[in-house]
Amino acid sequence: MPEKICRSVSLILLVFLFSSCDRNRNKPGWDYFPDMFYSTAYETYTKNPNFKDGMTMRVPAEGTVPRGITPFNYTIDEESRILAGIELINPESPTAEVLARGKTVYTIFCAGCHGDTGAGDGILPGSGLYPLQPRLLIGKDADKLKDGEIFHSITLGFGSMGAHGSQIRTEERWKLIHYIRQLQAEQRVTESSENSAENK
Ligand code: HEC
Repeated sequence: MPEKICRSVSLILLVFLFSSCDRNRNKPGWDYFPDMFYSTAYETYTKNPNFKDGMTMRVPAEGTVPRGITPFNYTIDEESRILAGIELINPESPTAEVLARGKTVYTIFCAGCHGDTGAGDGILPGSGLYPLQPRLLIGKDADKLKDGEIFHSITLGFGSMGAHGSQIRTEERWKLIHYIRQLQAEQRVTESSENSAENK
């Protein structure tokens, strides 16, 4: 007799156990530790009666600048670029490390159009897929560009060239400019040796 009771009790338990496995995703069942699911704080995108505009997520106070971001108050026109050339100073020093980083950034973002040496012969214009001729980043005219002017062109774009300000960090843009200066110096060396060879 006790054996029978034992068997029916285990059967009932078994049925109970399996009935708790439910595949209906619309009914989540009972909550265990409900305070972990239902936050008492306002969720980021929910309505919030405490603010006039009803939004939980707030916009930053006017005139504030996020940490690590340097404001760039220039516009994409020649006057503004000239101003950037006068006002902005490269905060980086051309150490071997900085130049190496500048070269990496140049190779990733610029060489495709401007070419490995800055001569405007990158793979994109060379392939005919990109119809515009990039400007020379080396040679007499490019030598005259101020650091701030190059920074302006990278950040906001120049003529038909797109802006790279959102893709390259501020300090990396300055490092890149040191690398362009190195390319320009190398070009001057090549030119002067060519000239002296011609004069011989
Ligand atoms: C998709 C091709 C392309 C890429 C990528 C590109 N450029 Fe350019 N860049 C151009 C073209 C084209 C011009 C000339 C635009 C014009 O004259 O309207 C130009 C112009 C410039 C100028 C102005 C030169 C002057 O004489 O005033 C600078 C500086 C410059 N690029 C630097 C860079 C740097 C640095 C990078 C990498 C961060 C870069 N560019 C990436 C195509 C490109």
